[in-house]
Amino acid sequence: MDTSLPIALAADHGGFALKEAVRAHLEERGLLYRDFGSLDGAGCDYPDMALPACRAVAAGECGCALLFCGTGVGISMAANKVPGIRACCCSDAYSAEYTRRHNNANALCLGGRVVGPGLAEMLVDLFLDTPFEGGRHQRRVDKLTALDAGRQP
Ligand code: RB5
Repeated sequence: MDTSLPIALAADHGGFALKEAVRAHLEERGLLYRDFGSLDGAGCDYPDMALPACRAVAAGECGCALLFCGTGVGISMAANKVPGIRACCCSDAYSAEYTRRHNNANALCLGGRVVGPGLAEMLVDLFLDTPFEGGRHQRRVDKLTALDAGRQP
């Protein structure tokens, strides 16, 4: 993952506390981030939080997104509606690593009611530090990109 660009953060109320924990972890690592909220954990709707963060990734303003809701699922559904976003909701290390290796995922979605902060930091580190393998996987990702552009592969 190219971490020279800021990492987009976004959460609804269900993911707010975990976003804050991960934000502190990014600061410890000295990584740049842009926080699209929630900034206070008040009740809000996950699409409203995910879409601006994902649009910033798709526009090349941010290198990737870390997204949080109660389960990680709703915000991943919202993220995957944005052309150019390949979002993975996961709560295990294998998926966090291989969604980078094989899917070139650019958004990681975590559930604040599913994973604790220690596991979340591990998953975030795997996601940020694992490269895309390319090769045969590029062909598959290209088919997703074609769908984003309105073409049937
Ligand atoms: C909010 O209560 C909850 O539904 C939301 O955070 C998320 O888990 C949805 O997928």
